Amino acid sequence: MCGIVGIVGRAEVAHRLVEGLKRLEYRGYDSAGIAILRENGVNAQIERRRAAGKIANLEAAVAAEPPRGRVGIGHTRWATHGAPTVSNAHPHATDRVAIVHNGIIENYRELKDELIAKGRRFESETDTEVVAQMLTDYLDQGMSAEDAMAHTMPRLVGAFAFAVLFADRSDILVCARRSSPLAIGYGEGEMYLGSDAQALAAMTKRISYLEEGDWAVLARDRAAIHDASGAAVERPIRTTELSGALVGKGNYRHYMEKEIHEQPEVVGYTVMGTIDANARAVKLPKLPFDPAQLSRLTLVACGTAFHAALIAKYWIEQLARLPVEVDIASEFRYRAAAMPKGGAAVFVSQSGETLDTLAALRYCRSQDQRILSVVNVPESTIARESDLVLRTLAGPEIGVASTKAFTTQLVVLASLAIDLARARGTIDRAREMALVDALTHVPSHIAAVLQSRARFKALSHKLAEARDVLYLGRGTSYPIALEGALKLKELSYIHAEGYAAGEMKHGPIALIDEDVPVIVIAPPDELFEKTASNIQEVIARGGRVVMFSDAKGIERFGGTGIDAIATPAVDPFVAPIVYAVPVQLLAYHTADVKGTDVDQPRNLAKSVTVE
Ligand code: G6P
Repeated sequence: MCGIVGIVGRAEVAHRLVEGLKRLEYRGYDSAGIAILRENGVNAQIERRRAAGKIANLEAAVAAEPPRGRVGIGHTRWATHGAPTVSNAHPHATDRVAIVHNGIIENYRELKDELIAKGRRFESETDTEVVAQMLTDYLDQGMSAEDAMAHTMPRLVGAFAFAVLFADRSDILVCARRSSPLAIGYGEGEMYLGSDAQALAAMTKRISYLEEGDWAVLARDRAAIHDASGAAVERPIRTTELSGALVGKGNYRHYMEKEIHEQPEVVGYTVMGTIDANARAVKLPKLPFDPAQLSRLTLVACGTAFHAALIAKYWIEQLARLPVEVDIASEFRYRAAAMPKGGAAVFVSQSGETLDTLAALRYCRSQDQRILSVVNVPESTIARESDLVLRTLAGPEIGVASTKAFTTQLVVLASLAIDLARARGTIDRAREMALVDALTHVPSHIAAVLQSRARFKALSHKLAEARDVLYLGRGTSYPIALEGALKLKELSYIHAEGYAAGEMKHGPIALIDEDVPVIVIAPPDELFEKTASNIQEVIARGGRVVMFSDAKGIERFGGTGIDAIATPAVDPFVAPIVYAVPVQLLAYHTADVKGTDVDQPRNLAKSVTVE
């Protein structure tokens, strides 16, 4: 979602701002812009370049008329208030300030009315412009930049991060954070600002994160940070692990294709991080609660991470006999959930910045819950606000649709289920060893699925013609059906629905005819016969079935009239991790056939920092 960069530099910044924005492209955006202070005696002039669409358009605008100056801010915008046009693109500016903003100013309408009544004229439909106008109003009343900030901040309701340039202060950049993330980078005689460390990694590895309510004044040689009350505070400087090199596509056509193929490796890393292969045991850090004392565990997440949490519910309830509640963060955060005393909650997030998930975490914190998170970005806000972080070792995931983050989340959650079961005495040593062995074999099973990718590619040509597609599964294959449908619709724009196979008779069966492909996730587990009956019901109504199962399952089904794609034989415990890959491949190739933007599907964002 929206990304911010800023530089108070010794040398010109236009090019570096654009490079920083490219590093934030993965968050998803639909317009981009930069503002630079052109030094000109006492007063500098604000120069902007903005463009709708991709950063390449902004680069062209910058190349056509390069803005020159050593202090600047840049932004990638994911439209919330107003279409993704040049006039709505950030930075928003008056002759005295320029601002870039991530998040939403919820009370912007009333503030805008107030400013219009004072004679201020607006150029855009955005909520952001009210901040530029309000700051200018305070400056016009004779306030300093710092005082204007201090007066403006308390008037804003909502979640945001922003960076501001002041025309009469060519030596500073001011920034503020409420909910949306913001990092300060420390250079040699230069200071930087970014939505995350990834934006800054090519310029510096020394990063500090603003905390909730902080605002800061960056000069070339220092950052003066204030908390919400205005008191001066220090925030620790950390050395980020991120590499300065831009993550490339290697030999692949898309990031998503590369990330699907990285799964044997990153799933392997993650398994090795959660088990002791020699001891054939799970080895997680000490949990911040006593599993034997828990009466319930709450899992909260969004999107694909929510599907990982759903699978974890099956695992934890079956193995650890612990009741699990799973919810979508945007629902959970507002339903005043009753939490057990001394309870614990788990938050699953690739980015660690999803606003709804973070808000749900903070709600649980306010309810005295212990907080565990499963996160891919170790420096993220969710990671920093957790009592314990279990890391997925997926590496940077650039494709908007989550793939390797999902399978690595499943590995961590499977290990957590085993750990909880061991602590609660609901599995014996032999069972733990068998489960750990099953996890150890997952990377090679995924590699085998990838070997047979040509079959999914062939199927995708047929699927690309469909208008609606149904995905069915039972048990842990049900969330894989949901994930398959989500992947197909987000990538190829074909309408798809995931359903519990047993629920088909309560609605989706009405859709079935020869034009609606039905993809059935059917590993030969103890629910296989039930799923097989549902397949027969589809066939009886002239439906076209594609079954994903192993050779044994395909033989057990024995029926004709279906397409079956054989996956490797796997322990049912790890089946959802392995069967995640066929649904990814199918969605990827179908989108490729349809020619959609695989890595940045329309309207979607990687890091969803608005609610
Ligand atoms: C967006 C992404 C999804 C992701 C979801 C949750 O919708 O496109 O791929 O699953 O956000 O993101 P998180 O970073 O919290 O896992």
